[in-house]
This record gives sequence, C-alpha cells and structure tokens, in this order.
Amino acid sequence: MELIDGKKTAQAIRDEIAERVNEIKSKNGKIPHLAVILVGEDGGSQTYVASKVKSCGEVGFQSTKIEYPDSITEKELLDKIVEINQNDDIDGLLVQLPLPKHISETKVLEAISPDKDVDGFHPVSMGRMVAGMPTFLPATPAGIVELLSRYGIETNGKHCVVLGRSHIVGTPVSLLLSRKAKTGNCTVTICHSRTKDIKKFTLQADIIIAAMGVPEFLKADMVKEGVVVIDVGTSRVPDSSKKSGWGLKGDVDFENVAPKCSFITPVPGGVGPMTIAMLLKNTLLAVENR
Ligand code: GUN
Repeated sequence: MELIDGKKTAQAIRDEIAERVNEIKSKNGKIPHLAVILVGEDGGSQTYVASKVKSCGEVGFQSTKIEYPDSITEKELLDKIVEINQNDDIDGLLVQLPLPKHISETKVLEAISPDKDVDGFHPVSMGRMVAGMPTFLPATPAGIVELLSRYGIETNGKHCVVLGRSHIVGTPVSLLLSRKAKTGNCTVTICHSRTKDIKKFTLQADIIIAAMGVPEFLKADMVKEGVVVIDVGTSRVPDSSKKSGWGLKGDVDFENVAPKCSFITPVPGGVGPMTIAMLLKNTLLAVENR
C-alpha cells in the first residue's frame, strides 16, 4: 500500500506556481490577485478561506478577503460581485459555499464573470468542461486527476466508482475521468443516496472516489484487493485529543481499508491541500488568459 501524499504534491505545485509568478512579475510587474468572499460564521468555511488566503501569500499572489455577516442581503452580495467583476486589478473571484438559505447560490455563481471564475462553478465554465474546451476546472476534481497523474496511477480502461453526485466533486470528477485524456478513459459509475446495494458496485471498482460526506462510509468489506481509494470526505467529528475539540474524518474507514489498497489518500493531507493548489493554478490561468 502506498500513501498518496497530497501535502507534498501540493507543495510541488505551489513551488511551480511561485516560479511562474516571479517570471510574470519580472516581465510586466503584474502580481496575480485573488478575491475571496466569505458570508457567515461557518467554521469549516472560515478555515478553508483562511487557508486559501495564506496559500496566496506563499506563492506571491495578492489576495483580498471580503467578509459579510449572515444578514447580508442577496442584492448587496450580487452588487459586490459586479464591482469585483469590473475591477481590473482583480484576476480571480470566488464566493465560499455554502451560502445562507436566503441567498440563491445559482444567482451568485452566475453573477461571477466567467473570466474570473477560478472555482469553475459558473455554467459557462461547466459547459466548456463538458464540451472538452479549455476552461477553469473545479479545483477538487482537478486536484484528484493531478494526484492520479503525478503518482503514475493507470486510469485507462479502469472501472472508477464515484460515491456522491455533487456539483463540486462527484459530477465533475466523473466527467474528467471518463474523458479521452491521458489521466482519463475510465468507465465511470456514479453511486448516490438512491443507489441500491452500493457495495455491489464498489466491489467491482479499480478506483473509488469517495465524496459523499458520510464519515467512514467505505468499509473494508466493500473493496477489492489492490483498489485505489481517493477520499474527499472532510467531516468534522468531536475529538477530545485535539485542542480545537474536533478532528477531520474522511468518507473511508482508513484503518481497515488501507491494507487492501494499492494507493490511498489520507484525511487530512490527501485531497484537501490539492484543492487549494489547483485554485492557485486557476488564478494563474486567469492572469495568463488576460
Ligand atoms: N465549499 C466547499 N468546497 C468549495 C470550493 O471548492 N469552492 C467554494 N467556493 N466553496 C466551497
């Protein structure tokens, strides 16, 4: 069993980005600039946004964090997005999800200019991805593909079972892995909350992407020997050994599944760091596209 080290891989990508930032800076003085909007007090979102902002600094990007209370109106948020769309100094913009219930996620995502849509969640970005055209790929699915590629894991002709059909992970990663591409050409099965007998499918899988958000869902008796397991879960569970009082749990019963795997990602330190690395890559792409 080989552990897939997302932290180390993400650092390698960040080093590559930092090098490119230096080249761009010395050529035209431009510093890539990412704006991040955070609404409300969700602990997970606050942690993610803090990591995104910190990572920007580490690769030489400028970042602007804009925070709003839960009480912000949809119109105020949409007005801010329009303002950032028109601000030539800002290259990329993301609004951290989830949003409070009174704000339409669809309206917010549609308001972001596709040129600055570094999350790849705008329908134009998604449509371009489906059509196989160059675009901003959503960061977590792109990070998964990058991990498989950098670890030399064969995907051609393999059966990949994706657990979860979210717009952020399950649906796009299914598309990317079934594409005609070097890290692609998989036969993909998507399982979700209405799938009958998920175990029947996971037992046939060469690669499993677990992205349901159910802690330790995937058990050892659900996988075959030699499987590749990518764990996208990041549920917060109480943990008295941690100063914060909580720890992160993936969707995989790591202790019992890992011995059966050829490759597996840990939580934390697997897919998570890759998501941020790919967001930075998209921000660099936004600069280069301009
Ligand atoms: N919430 C969970 N994952 C993401 C992400 O990749 N981008 C944004 N904007 N919000 C998220």
